[in-house]
Amino acid sequence: PDERTLVLIKPDAVRRGLVGEIISRFERKGLRIEALETRTLDGGFADQHYAEHVDKPFYPPLKTFMTSGPLVSLVLSGDQVIDVVRAMIGSTDGRRAAAGTIRGDLSLSNRENLVHASDSVDSAKREIALWFPALG
Ligand code: CMP
Repeated sequence: PDERTLVLIKPDAVRRGLVGEIISRFERKGLRIEALETRTLDGGFADQHYAEHVDKPFYPPLKTFMTSGPLVSLVLSGDQVIDVVRAMIGSTDGRRAAAGTIRGDLSLSNRENLVHASDSVDSAKREIALWFPALG
């Protein structure tokens, strides 16, 4: 059975007009959009989403960034979609992410790196239940 993953198209991508480019890459890959929504996070929701990072030194500016404007959240499904999407977005730091990946092609930042995606089956379950309780 197909997996599901949670993807966030972050506020930097919305501001830069890259939402269509990013969604288009996922569609062309053959992944299915199961849910899609625009919202602006409050601090409490950011803390819940990034529960494993709240105590890290990079978290306060990350929280400011993630609550700075609208973002697009989506659930994608497909064969091994969790690993497929991680490969498509590239490593965290846009300056080091491989060319051909979303971050490698479109970001020069370690924080404003355009997209987030679940990194494991467990985190996908947790994040989908948080963002789209009806799909949980
Ligand atoms: P994401 O995949 O959403 O997971 C955690 C986020 O924290 C990451 O993408 C970046 O936006 C940000 N991040 C991770 N490490 C750092 C860092 N060292 N400095 C700044 N931001 C970071």
